[in-house]
Amino acid sequence: MYNNLLALRAKGTPNMDLADLFKLAEQPDVISFAGGFPDPDWFIEEIEEITMDVLRNYKDIALQYSPVAGLSTLRKYISERMRKQNMNINPSNVLISSGSLQGLDLLCKIFLDPDDYVIIEAPTYLGAISTFESYEANTVAIPCDEHGIIIEQLDEFLQNTKIKPKFIYVIPTFQNPSGRVWSLERRKALLEICDKYQLPIIEDNAYGELRCSGMEVPTIKSLDSKELVIYLGTFSKIFCPGIRLGWVAGPEEIIEKLILFKQNSDQTSSSLSQLLVLEAGKKGLIEKQININIENLKLKRDVTINTLEKHFSGKAKWVVSEGGYYTWVEIDKKINTYDLLKKAVGDYKVAYVAGPSFFPNKNGGENCLRLCYSLPKPTKLEEGIKRLAKVFSI
Ligand SMILES: Cc1ncc(COP(=O)(O)O)c(C=O)c1O
Repeated sequence: MYNNLLALRAKGTPNMDLADLFKLAEQPDVISFAGGFPDPDWFIEEIEEITMDVLRNYKDIALQYSPVAGLSTLRKYISERMRKQNMNINPSNVLISSGSLQGLDLLCKIFLDPDDYVIIEAPTYLGAISTFESYEANTVAIPCDEHGIIIEQLDEFLQNTKIKPKFIYVIPTFQNPSGRVWSLERRKALLEICDKYQLPIIEDNAYGELRCSGMEVPTIKSLDSKELVIYLGTFSKIFCPGIRLGWVAGPEEIIEKLILFKQNSDQTSSSLSQLLVLEAGKKGLIEKQININIENLKLKRDVTINTLEKHFSGKAKWVVSEGGYYTWVEIDKKINTYDLLKKAVGDYKVAYVAGPSFFPNKNGGENCLRLCYSLPKPTKLEEGIKRLAKVFSI
């Protein structure tokens, strides 16, 4: 009965990749390089104490609805933090969201009609692809090299197309899935081209503060003097994902629209979580958590890269990421990592995300895979990569 009643967008096969990843991570005997999960051992122990403090001192606010845009104190805290990172943001430019994925979802709500066009990097975050698909949008994937999106290809597309894309979505720092960082030149070139074609940029900076090595590169938002960039931030990777808090920072006219739509979505993000972040921020615990995450990510990144060198050398290429959670592996022979995933999990008890999942219609990256090294312990990382070599017969 229900199938006949469903909206068209729900009738096809929805992109289940994200839900599948969460399921894989729950199987205890599988070494999972799949979901972008932090290691729970990293979570600072002070969280227990500050939760109690918040409930003791601010119970009336913590257990109450908050304003739709978020607590004004948290909007101020976020704007001050962003100003320190050279981004010209006031509290009125900030909307608190329930994770940054909700921020992206709300942006789609205000920008996208069915059949609209969105430009993305190829490859890109699969949660973003399925969000765009759920709004029945078309995605135009522009290839990337080691310095970021290939500007000439973007320019060529924009010059020759009759359609007007609504925005471009990019993850320029420690990209998901590639782990790469766009060069400063590419960032400036993107701003220039988007100014020329009046194309808004959604900059997703979920991992930008998790640098383990190499030189800092400014966010695109910090280079933007024309309000072209709408920035997505999250506490999921720098603090903890269970509190489900992120934010959108952008022009006031956009924030005002988002507020109207968030009202019909979840009305407000958790007041308790908002106060937790504020309290943690006040006590320097966000920075403490970031430093712990960086230290551990560096260790796990090094183990991953060293083990890849041991087992994959001469048979694959991979990205030595300077931060974030991921590396991208490209196998030097014709295989389909998507087809092999069942065998990997079933026979070898190891999980990854196949390259095609990061391309629209799973069209691309067949010989590639994303390894997320944040969750398994170092010995499991080594064992998991050894198993992967067997899965791919290399
Ligand atoms: C690039 C990127 N953006 C957004 C998100 C969603 O994060 P959140 O937990 O804030 O919704 C993720 C999660 O993995 C991500 O990798």
